Amino acid sequence: MSKLVIEGGVPLCGVVEIQGAKNSILPIIAATLLADDECEISNFPDIGDTHIALEILKALGANSTIHTNSIIVNAAGAYGTEIPDDLMRKMRSSLMFLGAILSKNRRARVSLPGGCDIGTRPVDLHIGALKEMGVVFSEAHGYMECEAKNISPADIVLTYPSVGATENIMLAAAKANGVTTIKNAAKEPEIVDLQNFINAMGGKIRGAGGSEIIITGVKNLHGVKYSVIPDRIVLSTYMCAVAATRGNAVFKNVNTSHVSSVLAALSKAGCKIYDLKDTVALECDRLNAINSLMSMPYPGFPTDAGSPFVAMMAGAAGTTLFVETIFENRFRYVGELLRMGAKIKTEGRAAVIEGQKKLYGAPVEACDLRGGAALVVAALAAEGITSVSHAEFIERGYEHIESVLTELGARIKYEKDV
Ligand code: UD1
Repeated sequence: MSKLVIEGGVPLCGVVEIQGAKNSILPIIAATLLADDECEISNFPDIGDTHIALEILKALGANSTIHTNSIIVNAAGAYGTEIPDDLMRKMRSSLMFLGAILSKNRRARVSLPGGCDIGTRPVDLHIGALKEMGVVFSEAHGYMECEAKNISPADIVLTYPSVGATENIMLAAAKANGVTTIKNAAKEPEIVDLQNFINAMGGKIRGAGGSEIIITGVKNLHGVKYSVIPDRIVLSTYMCAVAATRGNAVFKNVNTSHVSSVLAALSKAGCKIYDLKDTVALECDRLNAINSLMSMPYPGFPTDAGSPFVAMMAGAAGTTLFVETIFENRFRYVGELLRMGAKIKTEGRAAVIEGQKKLYGAPVEACDLRGGAALVVAALAAEGITSVSHAEFIERGYEHIESVLTELGARIKYEKDV
């Protein structure tokens, strides 16, 4: 267990270099299983989830070395078919390995994935699509056994544009014998990144970023050097933190076209944004409520940025309505914000945030990754000391958060419990 102890009330000012995207690197690490030789991936975020992904690769027989800001993976000889239960439970995106393992071995054994407890998070779309590609599923002793004579190309229509299911299908189909199409595919930038990575290895995928993706299977994929896109959720979180403390900062290594909806919401709330495409600056003197905001699949407002945004609005002038449309159990951090003097009412998927002049420090507990980040945003703005326990949830997605915030002038300490 670890803890972040924050003395709030300091306007955050300075320059932040944004890390590589967690939600890109995870499926890309899974994709290295498809390569015949070594891959070098830069802009590698050194976070909890990437370490779990590398442990999974190791369990499957791959070698990887972490360098500063990059990794080298050789998964050519990784013919393992089983993901250990403890790793599967630690991270939901471990399910992403299923498509790649099946592509390589025609069989796999996995338990149901864990990850952040932000709703029921079923896996029916993943399983349904893989069944259409010829995979047969059976359950025994808490494990899913998956087998296929061949991974067959298929025309898959997703009933919801699931990010993970879209990625799993791309991974399963990249080396299938024929053309697979995904209709109603997720359009997130991380899907485009996965397409670009597989194509750089010699794959033939087009359409990512739109609602139809066409994957023409190829016989072999080779190793590559590749750099993952910047993390748009980490950028959104730090922008909310700077705005919440009425600070000003410059964010480097970003792609602002990936955060248009977030920048629009921040400007509506009174922030001044200077958009230079790969760098963005934010200045905030006062924050005002906005009528309403709703999370939506990309290019809508990202569900993952919802929690830090709500925490920021807890200190804005006026009342904001935030509606979470993607996961049904995202508001668990709100109870902790109430301990800090926030006035927020939740009803199902809606949160009504009555902005307060001052929040105050309190002992609070992170219960998921983005909810934990929301508590940090609130703590930075609050008067007095907040200790955010279970910071290990936050470490799953934010690289050295205490150093980044210290650089911006925050008074923050990281404590590891023994
Ligand atoms: C990914 C992101 C996560 C982000 C989410 C939505 C990664 C590692 N994680 O998660 O940070 O919050 O996209 O942008 O990239 N669903 C089903 N059946 C399925 C799959 C999903 O009903 O088989 C539902 C989910 O319960 C949820 C919605 O679809 O309500 C969105 O889930 P999905 O897009 O699959 O999210 P993840 O890939 O899990």
